[in-house]
Amino acid sequence: MFICTVNILSEYISYFLKAKGRHGTHSPFVYQFVSECLKTNMDNNFVLERKKLFNSLKKDKKTIEITDFGVGSKRLGNIRSLKSIFKTNTSRGKYGTLLYKITKFYKPKSILELGTSLGVGSFHFSKANSDSQIITLDGCSEIYKVAVQNLNIRECVNVTCVNSTFIEYLKANTNQKYDLIFIDGHHDGEALLIYLELLKQNSHNDTIFILDDIRWSDSMLAAWNKIIQSKDYNLTMDLFRMGIIIPRKQQEKEHFIIRF
Ligand SMILES: C[S@@+](CC[C@H](N)C(=O)[O-])C[C@H]1O[C@@H](n2cnc3c(N)ncnc32)[C@H](O)[C@@H]1O
Repeated sequence: MFICTVNILSEYISYFLKAKGRHGTHSPFVYQFVSECLKTNMDNNFVLERKKLFNSLKKDKKTIEITDFGVGSKRLGNIRSLKSIFKTNTSRGKYGTLLYKITKFYKPKSILELGTSLGVGSFHFSKANSDSQIITLDGCSEIYKVAVQNLNIRECVNVTCVNSTFIEYLKANTNQKYDLIFIDGHHDGEALLIYLELLKQNSHNDTIFILDDIRWSDSMLAAWNKIIQSKDYNLTMDLFRMGIIIPRKQQEKEHFIIRF
């Protein structure tokens, strides 16, 4: 049985009390991240298109059978409506906006997303910078088909959806390097550490790793605490739901809790 003892309220209070804005940071990279990247404007067209996508997904009663390659949803069964997947399994709200802003500001040429779901994260990456090439992976064939359809309708031509488990894809594709890697599936701490180890061959000194749901379970929180101690990532930022880590060997190791 899955038992999670993470007390999200006390985690939030502790995060909130420690979180700092741009004036609390002496790192030029983090100062720029807070004062410029997080303030990046969203294009009006994007805002309208996103509204259309979200309006259609939140009403979609179509059901699909989910094959679970991760740790599954805490609340839902295997037959799920698209609207319930949209509500519980996608990057909506300010964290979706964060994906858009990071992509628009840093203009990563290549992006890898682990966990496509309905394609909401990929949609944000795609529309933020048409020059980014995005590869997104999902092991569930039914969800993969829905994502392909959603991304085609929204003309996200720079996104390639791949129906594969994370491990299979990473073991078969060791050469390609990515500028941004979003890990948003299989929220298990041990699995996360294995993916990060494998992804060393697909990343470089300035690759921005975005990790979702760092407080989703005891094991995810334990993995996050290990990652922020690790010598492999000199810059780590806690944005409460998401964590951002970058090797950045040119700087001293520093951890920031960012007001977000
Ligand atoms: C939280 S959703 C992804 C949300 C999406 N990134 C977004 O921003 O809207 C996680 C997805 O990862 C997929 N997944 C979980 N574990 C996986 C694994 N080990 N291999 C492949 N896909 C996996 C699930 O099928 C699910 O669709």
